[in-house]
Amino acid sequence: MKKILILAGDGIGPEVCAQAVKVINKIGGATLDYADIGGIGYENHGHPYPEETKVKAKQADAILLGAVGGPKWDNIEFALKPERGLLGIRKDLELFANLRPAIVFDELVGASSLKPELVQGLDIMIVRELTGDIYFGEPRGIHTREDGKRVGINTMIYDEDEVKRVSKVAFELAQKRGGKVCSVDKANVLESTLMWREEITKLHASDYQDCELSHMYVDNAAMQIVRAPKQFDVIVTGNIFGDILSDAAAMLTGSLGMLPSASLGNKYSLYEPVHGSAPDIAGQDKANPIATLMSVAMMYRYTFSMAKEADAIEAAIRAVLAEGYRTGDIMQDGCTLVGTEKMGDLITAKV
Ligand code: IPM
Ligand code: MG
Repeated sequence: MKKILILAGDGIGPEVCAQAVKVINKIGGATLDYADIGGIGYENHGHPYPEETKVKAKQADAILLGAVGGPKWDNIEFALKPERGLLGIRKDLELFANLRPAIVFDELVGASSLKPELVQGLDIMIVRELTGDIYFGEPRGIHTREDGKRVGINTMIYDEDEVKRVSKVAFELAQKRGGKVCSVDKANVLESTLMWREEITKLHASDYQDCELSHMYVDNAAMQIVRAPKQFDVIVTGNIFGDILSDAAAMLTGSLGMLPSASLGNKYSLYEPVHGSAPDIAGQDKANPIATLMSVAMMYRYTFSMAKEADAIEAAIRAVLAEGYRTGDIMQDGCTLVGTEKMGDLITAKV
């Protein structure tokens, strides 16, 4: 039996995870455990990444996370904010490679804010470094300088090993896809990213000559993603640039509600939708669970090496989309699907 830990979190997190649990149970062969993270962790245990969650996370074969955050916790101490729980677990489990695929389903081509011909058939994989950079660099903080002025500081820093291990993930993904890696940096201005460019170039020359490596400054990359997104295959970049570019790439697909992610380390793996906790629609059964279901598909693909099951979940989602979210059973590629008017109601996939 596989052990899957569900960290539903806040806002729409529990709703979308509930749909995912149905899919996991249909596939079978897994035991589920639950723990708190984010705002609910703070409420129940006084910390967004409680001790009990830490222990359970390390016992699980894979983790599914819903979402964290909400206005309720806007005014609590910075270190106890729900987001610190998410950053805490990423760092604690050393989940250094964050895979964020932006795929446009034919059925949803019209939902994109770009012209259909620009996004039809789009399939980009963004590999975002997740445990370094300005997110975690020291020194950091807010203090009052000698001249009495308040200053805020963060430090953008990478070491060569951090660059190499995430670059390796990007090249190895590219080998199984279109064979192209675009490394995004700001090497014309920031030394931290100049070192990044030099290291990935060396790694490419020594180990991955079968892939094509290109480099792009982040401002240009932001422009190219909305100008001609199909030029990309795998994009690899640091934590902060990856955070920003992946939200932009999400909109190519029409909705942040469609984007799954996998956060992988050498030992642990965590899967989560890219969207947030959407407190404005929480509890109304309106949330689109597709990003979470696709995250479950990634879990079967990457952690459990169960490609057949992963394909089945994705096929089920496509079938629901093709049906325009109608009620009824649909059979396709060995999947039984039950979709209702609201995507939030029920989707189950039988392998
Ligand atoms: C994301 C989110 C997080 C991040 C926040 C919630 C801390 O935006 O996963 O992209 O910045 O990494
Ligand atoms: Mg983000």
